[in-house]
Amino acid sequence: MNDEVADYLPAVEKGLHLIPTQASSHAGQVDQLYYVLIAACAIILLVVVGMITWFGFRYRAGNEKADRSSRPSTRTENRVEIAVLAAMLGVFMVLFAWATTLYLNVYRGPEPAMTIDVVGKQWMWKVQHPDGTREINSLHVPADEVIQLRVTSQDVIHSFFVPAFRLKRDVVPGTEKMAWFEATEPGNYRLFCAEYCGSFHSRMLGKVVVMEKGDYQAWLTRQRSGGRLAAIGQQLFAAHGCSGCHKAQSGVRAPSLAGLYGRRVALEDGRVVMADDAYIRDSILQPKKQVVAGFEPLMPSFAGQLDEGDILPLIEYIKSLQPSGRNKEPVPMS
Ligand code: CUA
Repeated sequence: MNDEVADYLPAVEKGLHLIPTQASSHAGQVDQLYYVLIAACAIILLVVVGMITWFGFRYRAGNEKADRSSRPSTRTENRVEIAVLAAMLGVFMVLFAWATTLYLNVYRGPEPAMTIDVVGKQWMWKVQHPDGTREINSLHVPADEVIQLRVTSQDVIHSFFVPAFRLKRDVVPGTEKMAWFEATEPGNYRLFCAEYCGSFHSRMLGKVVVMEKGDYQAWLTRQRSGGRLAAIGQQLFAAHGCSGCHKAQSGVRAPSLAGLYGRRVALEDGRVVMADDAYIRDSILQPKKQVVAGFEPLMPSFAGQLDEGDILPLIEYIKSLQPSGRNKEPVPMS
């Protein structure tokens, strides 16, 4: 597993689980239905296989003990068939009614305490809280509150899937869909994309961080007070795979970004430019315009993948990278 992916997989939920941890108010109900379905199928399977075996053995060719002289009347056969069909129909109607009620309950939900916007995009989850706080590939929520998610996609069809909440919702471009949950246990839970959406579908991972109400408020306040843009920039940097080439040390593929901001950069065409906001912006959107001396022009343009609102956080993040010391290595946010 690559390190970036490992970072997104929270430390909880390790070990062997027959089914995922239950961490939402409706997880238990979904599991009950699931267990009853499994049990009903197992019983039917045993009865059918048992009868096939018994008849095969009892009436096999050459079995002297098999009595073939008497046959039940057609009327008895009809009554047996109708009884079996009615019993099966009854069982499946009960399961149908149960599952439908549960489905409607899970997808309509009660009056929410807050609505959080989730946008799927190749290959990341963008989240916006009611106060405007943004995050990428993580979703912080308070425990014991009804949270409604308004999900949509910026490009192709994704699917928002949190196994511990028993919550899965297709994320379709051009539509807004609602989903809700009430998390019951503080902790970290895995968030998956459950719809094949392109080359890096398998890396479209995130986590849901369930916090006590007070901790969530404190987290929101921390996000508001400074450092927020750089933090979002760091998440964008990781989510777009920038760290794959831009390592702490300049490699053969790409220059290091540590201490880049405000430095003079020699370009392939002989110009020397200042690495300021405009330079970083152009490097991201039109990298062929200013290839750094000594490097191949490998950097692709991100014009199609990043929108205006993404550039500023990225610049702030690159500004925050120091040439030595704590913040040296551009690492993905865990
Ligand atoms: Cu997004 Cu798969």
